[in-house]
Amino acid sequence: MKVLVTGGTGYIGSHTCVELIEAGHQPVVLDNLCNSNPESLRRVAQITGREVPFIEGDVCDEALLERVFAQNPDIACVIHFAGLKAVGESVAKPLEYYYNNLLSTMTLCRVMGRHGVKKIIFSSSATVYSGDNEMPLREDSKTGNCTNPYGWTKYMCEQILRDVAKADSEWSVVLLRYFNPVGAHQSGLIGEHPNGIPNNLMPFISQTAIGKREKLSIFGNDYDTPDGTGVRDYIHVVDLARGHVAAANYMMEHKGEAVFNLGTGRGYSVLDMVKAFEQANGVAIPYAIAPRRSGDLATCYADPTRSREVLGWEAQYDQVDMCRDTWNWQSKNPNGYDE
Ligand code: NAD
Ligand code: WQD
Repeated sequence: MKVLVTGGTGYIGSHTCVELIEAGHQPVVLDNLCNSNPESLRRVAQITGREVPFIEGDVCDEALLERVFAQNPDIACVIHFAGLKAVGESVAKPLEYYYNNLLSTMTLCRVMGRHGVKKIIFSSSATVYSGDNEMPLREDSKTGNCTNPYGWTKYMCEQILRDVAKADSEWSVVLLRYFNPVGAHQSGLIGEHPNGIPNNLMPFISQTAIGKREKLSIFGNDYDTPDGTGVRDYIHVVDLARGHVAAANYMMEHKGEAVFNLGTGRGYSVLDMVKAFEQANGVAIPYAIAPRRSGDLATCYADPTRSREVLGWEAQYDQVDMCRDTWNWQSKNPNGYDE
């Protein structure tokens, strides 16, 4: 089937294009390139042997979306990755985040509805869960109390999409809550390349390994965790991408709204990840303990039972795969797609 992938030149979107093609689907990408490079789709073509049609443009541009759906009447569903995602930046620029993430989602749904395409998968995040839940997090754990505007945009988009599905029973809305996506395609051709200083742990580790950063700062070693450092549910991006293929198949058979965690169900500490990366790749990661980062939780990991039982999806890759594939991509592409 033909799938419109918004944000498809980005990190998770490009990996999902590979998995969609490998499952026999035809992705069409719409992206404004505000945080990505179209080279990623040339690499997708290199991996799969298939060109991915690419439209450069903004999901908030209603007239453009009208043309995209008019010219592609066979679009069966949409995977909506497009969004701004930097937590710290969202605190400094809240209006940019609310404007982009909410308006893109609402505009997309309006145009989809007009064209009778009423199936959407939305990139949500574990960040929508309230910080006072017991672990592991289940889809019915408490949401809200977000600590930053980025998290609120995901919470609000979930609510908008839920209301859309409630108002019109023809809609099928799948909310996927990602935990901590890491790693890269095994080919080393596509991966994550954050602009500037990475906010997330794995890109910081790999940039330290390659010598771009002097050392990793570990944000706190006095949490109530086995070694005192923060514990997260890291998930290989290829597993995450396959979760979208499973969700797209599910959506073809089910209407209404459904929410799924995409995580492994296992938590690893910052020090676990540093050691695993060193061992898997034979490189040293110098680090120093720094103060806690504001807004961080001690521990966050998923209960992925529902995804396994309902979607038939389960993460296949482990910590060693995540570390090996991150390094394979980073060492082959020290400047991302900018070579
Ligand atoms: P990414 O920045 O690599 O990809 C997002 C893409 O969306 C980029 O290519 C960007 O250019 C595009 N984009 C943004 N606003 C747009 C707009 N208005 N119109 C068209 N294109 C637009 O990020 P990613 O890591 O691949 O994340 C994909 C989605 O998953 C995002 O919605 C993000 O919030 C969500 N998510 C990411 C993580 C994570 O840790 N990476 C975790 C949970 C949820
Ligand atoms: C992981 C652990 C840090 C960097 C964020 C977003 C979340 C989602 C995924 C989009 C924590 C520690 C980190 C560093 C460190 N994104 N750390 N030194 O905070 O779990 O989640 O990305 O939806 O919304 O909040 O991920 O990779 O930033 O941190 O010690 O330089 O690594 O304190 O314990 P996080 P992360």
